[in-house]
Amino acid sequence: MDKIIVRGGTPLSGTIPISGAKNATLPALAATLLTDQSVHLSNIPHLLDVTTMLELLGQHGSAITVDERLGVEIDNCQINNFLAPYDLVSTMRASILVMGPLLARYGHADVSLPGGCAIGSRPVNLHIEGLRAMGADITLSGGFIHARAKRLHGARIHMDPVTVTGTENLLMAATLAKGRTFLENAAKEPEVVDLANFLTKMGARIQGAGTSTIIIDGVDTLHGTRHRIMPDRIETATFMIAAAVTGGDVILTGTSGEFLALPIRKLQEAGLILEDDPSRESMRVRCSGRLQGVNLETAPYPGFPTDVQAQMLVLNCIAEGASSITENIFENRFMHVSELQRLGADIQILGNVAHVRGLSKLHGAPVMATDLRASASLVLAGLAAEGETVISRIYHIDRGYERIEEKLLALGANIQRVSG
Ligand code: EPU
Repeated sequence: MDKIIVRGGTPLSGTIPISGAKNATLPALAATLLTDQSVHLSNIPHLLDVTTMLELLGQHGSAITVDERLGVEIDNCQINNFLAPYDLVSTMRASILVMGPLLARYGHADVSLPGGCAIGSRPVNLHIEGLRAMGADITLSGGFIHARAKRLHGARIHMDPVTVTGTENLLMAATLAKGRTFLENAAKEPEVVDLANFLTKMGARIQGAGTSTIIIDGVDTLHGTRHRIMPDRIETATFMIAAAVTGGDVILTGTSGEFLALPIRKLQEAGLILEDDPSRESMRVRCSGRLQGVNLETAPYPGFPTDVQAQMLVLNCIAEGASSITENIFENRFMHVSELQRLGADIQILGNVAHVRGLSKLHGAPVMATDLRASASLVLAGLAAEGETVISRIYHIDRGYERIEEKLLALGANIQRVSG
């Protein structure tokens, strides 16, 4: 199993490109199932989760051509298998996103129940209840969700709590339903809007994406199109924090601060200097002097993203002063804390709050990655720490960060991946 070895202490400097967003790519790939015409998606990140979704589509019968320029052409005119098996769904929960499209277009989907995961129990009851409200007959047996429908119909669906993939699944299903669907308390995440834009290019009739009520007027068929996936705001924030914790000066290209208002405000409060040039799709971030710890709590968009919580905790660990981070989305998303403590971090967990006392230094140690964003936080901690940090179970990071060690190497980090 691969490990990453980081020797900390080098301020990052240079320019790196930000990849397309994982969490916009996965629903877009699933959405291609809604048409039998060819669809081209560009700016696709080269990630393990994307490979898993392509493998799942391949099992359904999709013909997939990947080009050298981060593009993928998908032709779904021969879908013949409606099963999403346990081995794929258990490696990647977002596999559940094929349920809405398969059901809406073919009236048939058998999707393995995802089960719990490293960051919490993560039920999918809202996906199921929403599809039921649209007329689907859904049974659970043998660890599978069996969904059937002649044709889905429009419905008024209220989701509580706000769910990102739940909103996406129901949004996709509603595009081919008969009549009008209202998705209330819908997720406002930019990735939901990216999906809605893509579906609209396919001929869907959608209003209100990016607000808490999305209205969809179902159509009979959708058609092929081309779509460019938005930049990854979580990767962007992760590299901004990498610049901050190493006292670096980094230019991020192919991205902007457009969807990161609150993380940017918090980073500026902590001492990061930012120059955003949306016209050029690039951002310069730099930092000198001691960071200041910041308090924050995670919330659905436009709140502070839970996917940046672990990285921000690292910043607080080496910043001046006491600070607290509250995790409101997932009940078990502090698995990285015990690993950060191995590097000397002073963190105390009380309920869903991490209380941090900033130290001037962390010290390298062997640590273990537990989930995607936790792994990213350990890499950041290693970059900031004195000495050597060896991170094992690094496969988690390949699910969501494209060539992270190559990008960091290009910024001058002392980092290497070793096998075994
Ligand atoms: N929830 C329910 N019932 C449901 C669905 C969700 O109770 O049917 C609860 C969850 O347990 C959680 C909350 O609602 O407490 C929010 O979960 P949500 O459904 O929004 O999460 P998700 O859609 O499974 C997506 C991202 C996650 C990101 C969350 C929150 C994708 C593929 N995944 O997950 O990304 O953390 O939204 O923003 O879009 C990551 O990239 O590392 C990652 C975990």
